[in-house]
Amino acid sequence: MPAPVVDSAYRKNIEKLRRDLRAFIAEKNCAPLMVRLGWHDAGTYDAATRTGGANGSIRSEREFVHGANNGLKKAIDWCEEFKAKYPNLTYADIYQLGGVVGVEVTGGPTIEFIPGRKDSVACTPEGRLPDATKGHQHLRDIFHRMGLSDQDIVALSGAHTLGRAHKERSGFDGPWTSEPLKFDNSYFVELIKGGSEGLLMLATDKALMEDPKFRTYVEAYAKDEELFFHDYAISHKKLSELGCTAE
Ligand code: HEM
Repeated sequence: MPAPVVDSAYRKNIEKLRRDLRAFIAEKNCAPLMVRLGWHDAGTYDAATRTGGANGSIRSEREFVHGANNGLKKAIDWCEEFKAKYPNLTYADIYQLGGVVGVEVTGGPTIEFIPGRKDSVACTPEGRLPDATKGHQHLRDIFHRMGLSDQDIVALSGAHTLGRAHKERSGFDGPWTSEPLKFDNSYFVELIKGGSEGLLMLATDKALMEDPKFRTYVEAYAKDEELFFHDYAISHKKLSELGCTAE
């Protein structure tokens, strides 16, 4: 992300929105959905064609109807209230700040947030987000396409410490950890354990244990929460800035 191009009025509203988001997320207990919204807006990025990314395009019907985005319309609608209150802020910044605050208020690391993302309505074709039934090669294909690394894949997968799958949204059911509103390293601890009764493990979660390079990171993060928080904050910042290059 380049040096911020926003003026002081913009910056002031970002700080107001940050406070509003903390209160809103606490009241609605919706940190997981806000994190997923930010991720799904950004995760469409294709580094080769410089299309997709954290550009707010998920608000367009052509994009939010993609199967991977089931359930996110609710969060998109919530964000309309913030856009109405702070019309000078872009949707792209609102969605990414929502994700950053969602991680912070559930006990996760502070993620540096640089405002100034531009909005677009250019929707990407369906199929750019990961398919939960696939394995390690698929994960690499998808995340490397965004310009992210193997380490980013593992660190970011740790966001599944939050929230759960819903049968009516993805067909999967259940949380990954026993405290799904707490951001900690328990996602990795569960992976090492090989799963616990009532907890979910997708094929893409299992793939992190099966691939030796991924597994090294899983083991490190399960052992050392501070290391996980440090690496997660870096990877999430990268994710939140995909497609936001200097002009
Ligand atoms: C939820 C797949 C990576 C954050 C989900 C769900 C699926 C899924 C199937 C359940 C949706 C539902 O039924 O409500 C995947 C796959 C990934 C991936 C295959 C590939 C690695 C990520 C990343 C993040 C993330 C990188 C954030 C950085 C979340 C969160 C939820 C979630 C917070 C919980 C949402 C809720 O509780 O409503 N993911 N995901 N995921 N995902 Fe991922």
